[in-house]
Parts: sequence; C-alpha cells; structure tokens
Amino acid sequence: MSRVLAISGSIRTESFNTALLNAFGSLAPEGMSIEVFKGIDELPHFNQDLEGDVPASVTRLREAVQAADAVIISTPEYNRAIPGVLKNALDWASRPYGQSSWQGKPVAALSASPGAQGGVRALEELTGQLQNLSAYLVRGPEIAIPEVHTRLGADADARATLTDPATAGMVKYLLEALQVAIDTKAGENHVKAL
Ligand code: FNR
Repeated sequence: MSRVLAISGSIRTESFNTALLNAFGSLAPEGMSIEVFKGIDELPHFNQDLEGDVPASVTRLREAVQAADAVIISTPEYNRAIPGVLKNALDWASRPYGQSSWQGKPVAALSASPGAQGGVRALEELTGQLQNLSAYLVRGPEIAIPEVHTRLGADADARATLTDPATAGMVKYLLEALQVAIDTKAGENHVKAL
C-alpha cells in the first residue's frame, strides 16, 4: 500500500482545490491511499525565532510529509502566485537546515481556478519551488484546471466528485506517474544524483 499526502494550497472552507483533492481517492491506482492534510492554517508565520521549539502544528506537518511515500499539492492562484499559506507550509517543512522533509520526496503538483487560465502561473511557481527544495518532481500531464467550478459535482454531497472525464483522465495519469515514482524509488535516486 502506498500512502500519498494531499495538500491544498487553500484554507477556504468551500475551496475548489480541496474539493478536487477529496475527489482523487476514487481516481487513484489500486494500492494507493490519499489522505488530505488538514492544518496548514494552524501553522504560524515562519519565523526563525520559533525554530528552537517548534509548535505542534509544525511537527505534525513535517511528520506527515516524512511518513508519506509521496505528496500531491493542488494550488489556487492568488495574484499570479501561490498563496502565502502554501509558501509558509513549504518553508516550515524545509527546515531545520539540512533536514528538509522535501528532499527526495516524490511530489506532484497541479493548480485549479474558476478563471480561464487554471492558475497556471501559480503552478509554474510551485514547480519551481519544489525543484529548489530538491523534491523529486513527478512529471505527468501539466494540470492547470480552468473553470474548475464547472468540473466538480454541483451540490454539497457531490462536490468532491470530478465530473469532467477529460480532467479525471489527466488526474489518473498523474497519480499513476506518482505510483511509478514510488515503486522505482525515484526520489532516493534523485537525492543520490544531487
Ligand atoms: C484570486 N483569484 C485568482 N484566480 C486566478 O486564476 N488568478 C489570479 O491571479 C487570482 N488572484 C486572486 C487573488 C486573491 C487575493 C483571491 C482571493 C482570489 C481567484 C481564485 O482563483 C478563486 O478565489 C479560487 O476559488 C481560490 O481557490 P479555492 O479557495 O477555491 O481553492
């Protein structure tokens, strides 16, 4: 069984990105479980002064990333960038110095927006960040989902359902690529090559 941690870049209750990640469980290949992380809103602003005795919320994030075989992140776009809460989570899990939870971690990224461009500029920023963090960036189809509100179930119960077959197909492909990265220990080899 492979364990994938899903992180939404939005802390909004009705977030489309979180709803998307909740839909991924039914699209995952056999043997993959996907847990959506709750709690990036509990992280304090990153502050080196707090590093000596980090809050429990930080430890919980780091341990969740470390325990996962892979991570998938879905980000909204705020003013053509990733939201501050997501950058904050990336920073906290990149520390302490020399013990980053991201190094060699297989990570897949996507973006979603009600707008026409699907948050592609935030996705580009996020993939750049992950490369800088020495995560193993899983390449699949580039998924920047435009008009995301039209691709999820309409009522509250069905919201965590991807109703658009083309988008669901791309997500399946990306999750399969994540599974291949886990099976081939691509993240470990990536670190050896650094
Ligand atoms: C946005 N939104 C937005 N959308 C987009 O496609 N490109 C952008 O640059 C921005 N900028 C932006 C800035 C700020 C401050 C807010 C609050 C919103 C709209 C955004 O995509 C929309 O609110 C999404 O619904 C947010 O994602 P979640 O919360 O639904 O996952």
